[in-house]
Amino acid sequence: MEQKLRQLREESLDAIREAGALDALEALRVKYLGKKGELTAVLKQMGKLSAEERPVMGQLANQIREELTEAIENGRKTLSEKALEMRLAAETTDVTMPGKAVQIGRRHPLNKVINEAKEIFIGMGFTIAEGPEVELSSYNFDRLNTEEGHPARDRQDTFYFDDDDEVLLRTQTSPVQVHVMETQPLPIRIISPGRVYRKDEVDATHSPMFHQIEGLVVDEGITFADLKGTLNELVHRLYGPETRTRFRPHHFPFTEPSCEVDVECFECRGRGCRVCKGEGWIELLGAGMVHPKVLEGCGIDTEKYSGFAFGVGAERMAMFRFGINDLRLMFENDTRFLEQF
Ligand code: PHE
Repeated sequence: MEQKLRQLREESLDAIREAGALDALEALRVKYLGKKGELTAVLKQMGKLSAEERPVMGQLANQIREELTEAIENGRKTLSEKALEMRLAAETTDVTMPGKAVQIGRRHPLNKVINEAKEIFIGMGFTIAEGPEVELSSYNFDRLNTEEGHPARDRQDTFYFDDDDEVLLRTQTSPVQVHVMETQPLPIRIISPGRVYRKDEVDATHSPMFHQIEGLVVDEGITFADLKGTLNELVHRLYGPETRTRFRPHHFPFTEPSCEVDVECFECRGRGCRVCKGEGWIELLGAGMVHPKVLEGCGIDTEKYSGFAFGVGAERMAMFRFGINDLRLMFENDTRFLEQF
């Protein structure tokens, strides 16, 4: 029996030492120490031993059981430590690492400046109107007192959809004036930002698609002083109260009298530089008193009502506002440019 026990000890300790996984170790525990295990089986034969042998064998068996138990316990510890190490190595997520910063987008400088203008006009009692980008030439031209044959209607300059030149991509936001006068009750105070299209080659100051903000006020007793006051307020709120404006006589078919409004160059403050081409001034918008023909065409009584209108180039507004010197930057959507605003 002693022989058997010693053999069992050797064999089982070897097996335990070699066990490479926790479940293998557990199987060995059952194999040797379990109720139906090999050590238990040997112990069951104790009864056959002599009275002298029994305590000696009993002691040896107990010692072996303790040794095995301890070996299994040690093996379990080593294996679980190893398993943990392996898991940590395998799991690449290091919870102590700082998180990846989410890149948050920004508003496009154009939308920024359009929103600023909206706020300024809403503060002055205006509402926002919308009109179609695909427009009838009657709205884009005829009803704005721009008759057939006017150079602005040239096929060279305008995107027409049909051979009869009846449907086009609007060349200006001014047709919104007509839509609003047709549908809204007087008095009218609206602005209407949106895209316009012209057959222009792309360069630093031209694009076949750009944005305008149209403005229209129609009420009793509206004068050129209201126009000046409103546009000066816009410029001062956008570019600072010290910014000077210049109202130059101009011609538009749908306003009379008409003007263009220049702002003091943002770069040189009027001294003359490369940005303003030595002028000291930069053109920002066209404006004027709404032509009586346009009002009458919308059924408005010109004895009682008068109005003013203006059209601001939104890209220009943004370029002055942020000191951007090339229009193309606005549409290239290079994030290195966009993230500066
Ligand atoms: N629509 C004109 C343009 O595109 C601007 C304008 C609008 C002028 C309203 C007068 C009144 O140049």
